[in-house]
Amino acid sequence: MHSTGLQKPLFAPGAHRRTEPRGSLWDSCKIGGASPVVLSPHLSLMAVVQITRIVRFNAAHRVYNPALSDEENQRLFGKCNNPNWHGHNYTLEVTVEGAVDPITGFVVNLRDIKQVVEREVVEHVDHKNLNLEVPFMAGTIPSTENFVLGIWRVLAPAVAPARLARLKLWETENQYVEYDGR
Ligand code: NI
Repeated sequence: MHSTGLQKPLFAPGAHRRTEPRGSLWDSCKIGGASPVVLSPHLSLMAVVQITRIVRFNAAHRVYNPALSDEENQRLFGKCNNPNWHGHNYTLEVTVEGAVDPITGFVVNLRDIKQVVEREVVEHVDHKNLNLEVPFMAGTIPSTENFVLGIWRVLAPAVAPARLARLKLWETENQYVEYDGR
């Protein structure tokens, strides 16, 4: 038997307008209006927002393990083991998170994140050979997995006070790896 007729609706249209407290999150958007209201510290501490910056670059690599035989490398890595290198057009999505600053309305100024990602990552890898020229990849097999870990190690301390929440690194348009610091 159904008893839907006895259930109270979980959400009544318009109810949020009556119950929304003064000094709510949305008041932070009213700067420039007649009477701007500063976001209450309590609510700003609760609201964690993620923001993502996307950059694109290309790089060359050879995926192989020098500790293994030529035959074993060829069996494991196939075309990626080409001794004369090959390249990829990478797309990197950098997601940071934090509380919304009541003065700016920002988690962090995206201009700053853009500069940090350019300085710490793109300048070191764009048009470079990941096996030979990128300090934070030295001594690692330059798989997409190891690449995202290397990028995390240089970016996580550099984006403070925002917290690096997630990296998504696309090696082709059909595959990507994700890392969140665990
Ligand atoms: Ni490759």
